[in-house]
Amino acid sequence: MRMKEMLAAGIVLSMGIQLFCACSKEMPYEENKVYVGVTYYNQSDTFLNQLIASLKENLQEYEGNGYEISILIRGAGGSQRTQEDQVKELIDSGCNVLCVNLVDRADPSEIIDLARETDVPIIFFNREPVAEDMMQWDRLYYVGAFAEQSGIMQGELAVEIIQSDPLVDRNKDGKIQYVILEGEAGHQDAIIRSESVVETLKSHEIEIEKLSNGIANWNRAQAQNQMLQMISQHQNRIELVLANNDDMALGAIDAYEKLNYTESALPVFLGVDGTDVGLEAVRDSKLAGTVYNDKEGQAEAMAELAVALVSGTGMEKIKFQDKKYIYLPYMKVTKSSVDRFMRR
Ligand code: GAL
Ligand code: CA
Repeated sequence: MRMKEMLAAGIVLSMGIQLFCACSKEMPYEENKVYVGVTYYNQSDTFLNQLIASLKENLQEYEGNGYEISILIRGAGGSQRTQEDQVKELIDSGCNVLCVNLVDRADPSEIIDLARETDVPIIFFNREPVAEDMMQWDRLYYVGAFAEQSGIMQGELAVEIIQSDPLVDRNKDGKIQYVILEGEAGHQDAIIRSESVVETLKSHEIEIEKLSNGIANWNRAQAQNQMLQMISQHQNRIELVLANNDDMALGAIDAYEKLNYTESALPVFLGVDGTDVGLEAVRDSKLAGTVYNDKEGQAEAMAELAVALVSGTGMEKIKFQDKKYIYLPYMKVTKSSVDRFMRR
């Protein structure tokens, strides 16, 4: 019996060695096969859908350069649990780099553990994990933008409009009555944009009076509802609508259209993002301006980083801040510059 067992063990062992050899000879880790797994918080988000479309295009460009690219994309429907399952599934399907737009940006530990166990690097994007979580492993990266800059730029756009057009102050009380439509509670872009836009108005000595603020989760329909409530509360007193993104600014405009307001009775609307619909609204003078959230730049950086992480070449060309962060600048968009952005 003992002999048999030893023999069996020997066979298994040698099979193992053979298998291992077969693997390392015929199926080495192929640096030119880039299998990207993407998961994002919600598939109904306008900005992210456009960013991910651009990521696909950017990755596909590497195919001509001797890389084999494949991309799997999952939307998490706003559920962190779903997203964790998706990360498992993406890794099991053979993805060798992940792009993760967290549902809950404060809770990435489970996802980081899954990736670390299989040594699959993660590029977080758009929803920035806190610094301590980014330190959990050295193969974690972040691609995004400085939220404060977008708030400051939205504030500067508002200042320019208020200073050049006395009619913005409709009731001529020397103050600008405003409302804010905010993105998700706890989202770095929502918190920081809302703070810095108001700071910027104040620092330019614009007298302002806040009438209301409402959370509309980046969503056009929710913003329309919030705005309808604000209008019923404040009627014609609202002079300026500051929205944390374009979809919510458009939802606010929808509310006024629903109530059949004439154009001359409308407040000034400002957004952030420069999505296709946002840019069209700027072109059509419905939105006074927006702040361009450089989705093409972010997508290009993510693609470059994903390919570099898998292939092991090109990392030295990438300019990181603090070794793991890439931030793309925002840009102001008004009617006079909108064409340039529409062609991007
Ligand atoms: C913001 C963007 C929003 C929304 C959000 C999702 O940067 O301005 O429109 O896409 O990210 O996390
Ligand atoms: Ca006023």
